[in-house]
Amino acid sequence: MADEDIFSADAIEKGRRLFTRAWTFSRGTPDLDHLPPDDRPEIAFAGRSNVGKSSLINALVGQLRLARASNTPGRTQELNFFTDPNDELYLVDMPGYGFAEAPKDKVAAWNKVLRTYLAGRRTLLRVFLLIDARHGLKPVDDEIMALLDGAAVSYQVVLTKVDKISKTDLEKVSENTRKVLAKHPAAFPQILLTSSEKALGFEDLRATIAQLLEAHGS
Ligand code: GTP
Ligand code: MG
Repeated sequence: MADEDIFSADAIEKGRRLFTRAWTFSRGTPDLDHLPPDDRPEIAFAGRSNVGKSSLINALVGQLRLARASNTPGRTQELNFFTDPNDELYLVDMPGYGFAEAPKDKVAAWNKVLRTYLAGRRTLLRVFLLIDARHGLKPVDDEIMALLDGAAVSYQVVLTKVDKISKTDLEKVSENTRKVLAKHPAAFPQILLTSSEKALGFEDLRATIAQLLEAHGS
């Protein structure tokens, strides 16, 4: 579900095919010394703790237990790399930022890893910045957007958990988000809307990723 209809039937079909492949866990690393070799493009999923990054990856690939999701914020503690069987693309599940309950030194160390990865990974095709549709953009999201703008890394906002809010509220938060994004040079203007719980919005997300991959290869 995008905020407007922009995908051709062909793009939707390419996206569908990309994600019927059997995606598998490749590796997890808590630091930057153990990243996989940068031999293929990557798409990373970033966002505050508990916004639904791991759940979204599972819904995207149609495998309920590929990434570990949990009710407890701070669940994902490593950069987790998932690969398709043709070794064409990595999907990267990131630990959440803005998790206030973790020990301070741990948060600081994490922030450094996340920021260095996001700003410096050569093969990063796009970052999907997940925002809980009920809460909208928070100051900590602005910091990440500024970092990505500064590093000229393309990013796109995905509003998650849309099953949890009314249509009117969703329209309001989409409009507000759009206004903010217009001021950010590296932000892709189109917003995607998803519910991992209700499997909504994944045709468009899959089509977006398939298009990015195609544009990269051509
Ligand atoms: P961290 O790894 O801690 O940063 O969290 P995360 O962003 O990976 O979130 P995760 O996928 O673990 O989901 C957090 C909680 O939100 C879980 O209880 C999920 O079941 C719930 N959740 C995720 N997506 C949705 C959704 O689309 N709708 C609803 N209603 N709940 C969702
Ligand atoms: Mg997670």
